[in-house]
Amino acid sequence: MAVKHFLDLPDAGGDAIAAMLADAQDRKAARANWPRGRPDADQPLAGHVLGMIFEKNSTRTRVSFDMAMRQLGGTSLILDAGTSQLGRGESIADTARVLSRMVDAIMIRTDDHAKAQELAHHASVPVVNGLTDRSHPCQIVADLLTLVEHGKALPGLELAWLGDGNNVLHSILEAAALFKFNVRVGTPGGYEPDAEFVDMARSAGCEVTLTNDAVEAARGADVVVTDTWVSMGQDHAEAKLAAMAPFQVDEYLMALAKADAKFLHCLPAHVGEEVSEAVFEGAQSVVFDEAENRIHAQKSILLWCHGLLG
Ligand code: CP
Ligand code: NVA
Repeated sequence: MAVKHFLDLPDAGGDAIAAMLADAQDRKAARANWPRGRPDADQPLAGHVLGMIFEKNSTRTRVSFDMAMRQLGGTSLILDAGTSQLGRGESIADTARVLSRMVDAIMIRTDDHAKAQELAHHASVPVVNGLTDRSHPCQIVADLLTLVEHGKALPGLELAWLGDGNNVLHSILEAAALFKFNVRVGTPGGYEPDAEFVDMARSAGCEVTLTNDAVEAARGADVVVTDTWVSMGQDHAEAKLAAMAPFQVDEYLMALAKADAKFLHCLPAHVGEEVSEAVFEGAQSVVFDEAENRIHAQKSILLWCHGLLG
């Protein structure tokens, strides 16, 4: 059987991601009143080890994958670019072949999507994308889980994205194509998402609106989503920050969305930049449910990679 890599949402497809969402909800419910460190009753990945390569910083991805492995009965280990031989120029191909003989799956966070693809090409164990410059699929499984938990039906959902057309938005557009929801993207001119993702969602029948008007993007939305204006590896350019200012998700923009709309942010947040404190701390914000759901989502992604789901 082919190795099940999870580099982007279409690698799994809509049916498998729907199975992940159902499994994540079941496992989350089963852990109510369960100690955090105690494994799930069935320990489906007992004895398994996940190797995690980090070429960029992380809090949620790092901790949630580690906790996911513990809860599934396994363990994880971390290879930092700074302390592993990768940081001294050992090739991705050799790293893939060595790790494949030692661990059961590999997660990589890297600035270059091609490195994740190369790792998967040479690995004989599943490779999971823990964020690249191009996409952040694990985040979006957690986001979909959060929306479903908060009573949102995915097909036909109106999702507003405000700010930078970045890696997180790319994975949202892939999710839109799989689950048939619509995306209104409000960005300053020049900061739109890559056309490849927009075209793919439109080809799947989704309405994707690209606008430079934040009001048009937010109006009538079921969910309003934003992210940092400066992603890891990007320059902290004053011109970019100035262009982004009208796209801050504040109370005015949030009030244009539906009354029961939710606010999502993958975190870390820069309160006062892409989101106002009132929205971030407000009743419509579900950002800490979203962060917790990274654990539950990672578990179902790992189970899928190991052929135990979907
Ligand atoms: N949202 C997210 O991926 O967070 P980290 O960068 O902390 O992993
Ligand atoms: N777009 C952000 C997401 C961080 C989780 C980045 O790439 O830095």
